[in-house]
Amino acid sequence: MHIGKPITIVGVLALAASVGWMVQAQSAAHDPGVRSDGVGAGKPLPGLTAAQLQFFADGMARFLQVDSVSGTIPGEPGSGLGPTFNSTSCGSCHAQPAPGGTSPSTSQYPNIGPNPQVEAASDAGAINSLPYFISVTGPVREARFPLAVVNNEVTQTPDGGVHDVFNITGRSDARSCNMPQPNFELMQQLNNVIFRIPTPVFGAGLIENIPDATILANMTANSSLKQSLGISGQANYSGNDGTITRFGWKAQNKSLEIFAGEAYNVEIGVTNELFPNEREGSPASCMFNPTPEDTTNFTQSGTQIPSDIVAFSDFMRFLAPPAPSTVGIPGQPSPQAIQQGRTLFSQVHCDMCHTPTLQTGSSSFAPALNNQSAALYSDLLVHHMGSELADGISQGSAGPDEFRTAPLWGVGQRIFFMHDGRSTPANGGLLNAIQAHSGSGSEANKVISLFNALSPTQQQDILDFLRSL
Ligand code: HEC
Ligand code: HEC
Repeated sequence: MHIGKPITIVGVLALAASVGWMVQAQSAAHDPGVRSDGVGAGKPLPGLTAAQLQFFADGMARFLQVDSVSGTIPGEPGSGLGPTFNSTSCGSCHAQPAPGGTSPSTSQYPNIGPNPQVEAASDAGAINSLPYFISVTGPVREARFPLAVVNNEVTQTPDGGVHDVFNITGRSDARSCNMPQPNFELMQQLNNVIFRIPTPVFGAGLIENIPDATILANMTANSSLKQSLGISGQANYSGNDGTITRFGWKAQNKSLEIFAGEAYNVEIGVTNELFPNEREGSPASCMFNPTPEDTTNFTQSGTQIPSDIVAFSDFMRFLAPPAPSTVGIPGQPSPQAIQQGRTLFSQVHCDMCHTPTLQTGSSSFAPALNNQSAALYSDLLVHHMGSELADGISQGSAGPDEFRTAPLWGVGQRIFFMHDGRSTPANGGLLNAIQAHSGSGSEANKVISLFNALSPTQQQDILDFLRSL
């Protein structure tokens, strides 16, 4: 090379720079970031009837509707907000990359909106201050306090509940209300606050329709391999009817409708037919509406118009799973890397928790939910994830360090990972999420050491595969 042509300074620098780049590319795998080949999420299931599509559209519109206290604020047609809340619409938190998704925001993706909680804090004149864990570029977060606090001291009595970040004090439609926000800085000092970020609801109708027997059969499959890896896992059960619960970070909730009713009351403060009473702790001067605030509408003609929570459930149940990427477009992982990553994912046994597919049962109303193979990459069980991830909260049979194997479908377009959003674009994203599985007592420790023993190229293939989902 370079025969007959003197090497210039510029040439040397360019050569050095390109060698440096190659060395870097070989020495460390990195998260390629949110995939850009079309959205691939947010569509209705195939094969819905025209009527079902109408209910899907109505449910989506209500999912996106912004609530005010009175329903009279321009642009905020819903009513019942507060007294306390975390945001003002379902769609604000479930936003990325389409309605139903997860937390939007971060400076690295300026076309994806900022954290909606920043605007919600001062919406319609509200005077909330932003606690330290909410920022424009960070994830949407809700807070739980593991233990009850009395006179500024932590007791040994469990609390565990969600403490809403904001309240309606100062809003133009809540003039008589005056109440303080929780003292999150004190809770931080007392080491008594943990966070949860939104989970996506794409494909949630399929998850809902997986029979308990299928989950249990998958749990007992490959038992000797799982045992040698230190993987166990258990189902979380409803204390009421003894069936398996499956939604939420600890698989704590049974159905989409129950989740919708609870979220409407807890996240937005709208009482409803499933959760008809205002949550405790707010003064009467901050309660403006008769309860429940969201109800079935009984029309003159004798028909019923569904409540918001039923409409939200229709939308979520009919929402298709995200479509994985199969093509290698310029600047994106190649199809070969994706395929190799898929193979390696099971060679290091990530799939002993992240089960690639589970079969749904028969559906009484939608062919696309009927006996389908759901590519969710989860066993829907909760696993001990060790001291680093433990959040000290028990929900149903899920203990302080147990979490549901996070479904990985749609992970290709996620920005924040793990239950509290600790893995971000700034600290390595997906790679950080994988490393965060390790910790004293984690069932994933052996699998993560197998991952760590892979070459950088092989690790890169796994990350590329995850970004194709
Ligand atoms: C302030 C942000 C926020 C708002 C507003 C919000 N959610 Fe969520 N959503 C979350 C968080 C956080 C979780 C995870 C909670 C957990 O597991 O502890 C979640 C989880 C869910 C899940 C569980 C999905 C799964 O598979 O785990 C469903 C269903 C859901 N939300 C529906 C709704 C509906 C319906 C609304 C509107 C009534 C709503 N959410 C409003 C933050 C929000
Ligand atoms: C012992 C079961 C188990 C094994 C093995 C396991 N995971 Fe997980 N994974 C989980 C659980 C549980 C979570 C959620 C933990 C949390 O949020 O605290 C999770 C979360 C994730 C997330 C973040 C998803 C989200 O929604 O934020 C990714 C990515 C992931 N796992 C990839 C992998 C890969 C790749 C491997 C193999 C190298 C692997 N996991 C092995 C149980 C497991």
